[in-house]
Amino acid sequence: MARIQLVEHAPGAPGLRWFGLGPDLKPSRGLLKLRRLLHKHAFWAQQRNTADLKRMLAGSTVVVSLWRGKRMVGFGRATSDGIHRAVLWDVVVAGDLQGRGLGRRVVEALLSAKAIRNAERVYLMTTNSSGFYQQLGFEPASPQQLLIRKQ
Ligand SMILES: CC(C)(COP(=O)(O)OP(=O)(O)OC[C@H]1O[C@@H](n2cnc3c(N)ncnc32)[C@H](O)[C@@H]1OP(=O)(O)O)[C@@H](O)C(=O)NCCC(=O)NCCS
Repeated sequence: MARIQLVEHAPGAPGLRWFGLGPDLKPSRGLLKLRRLLHKHAFWAQQRNTADLKRMLAGSTVVVSLWRGKRMVGFGRATSDGIHRAVLWDVVVAGDLQGRGLGRRVVEALLSAKAIRNAERVYLMTTNSSGFYQQLGFEPASPQQLLIRKQ
């Protein structure tokens, strides 16, 4: 498989937001590529437009992307207060490259970032990928409950 590069963006991913920077800080139309990756492979984030993705990135403490050449093939982000609580969001790998350890690379990069590593508790929500996260050191949060504000 061609080399996969992992990019650890600065907090709020300003380079990705403003210049679409990818590996080696090269302009790579990264925002457009992120929109496409989420549209194709993240069922919960299919409708996000680039303006909203910019805001999302600006509000993210840790942002990681995976590239195969000029193609964005993976993504993940996290928010954290740096000490008590952190949450992982939007972990995704392109369908044709799943099952080759790339999702693990994304999650491990998120977890090793200082703001996440130092957090007392790290949470995430998942619909179908609980087994994947349980391999990576997560467990069901019983007896805690997930509540969501009514629409
Ligand atoms: C979930 C996802 C990110 C995993 O990425 P991936 O690159 O396919 O996973 P990896 O190859 O790194 O898997 C790491 C390990 O987890 C296991 N694993 C992967 N998906 C799993 C699943 N759904 N259930 C149980 N185990 C799983 C793999 O077998 C592998 O184990 P191994 O190291 O013993 O071989 C990816 O499949 C994906 O993007 N899915 C669609 C989007 C999604 O649902 N994201 C999660 C949102 S919360």
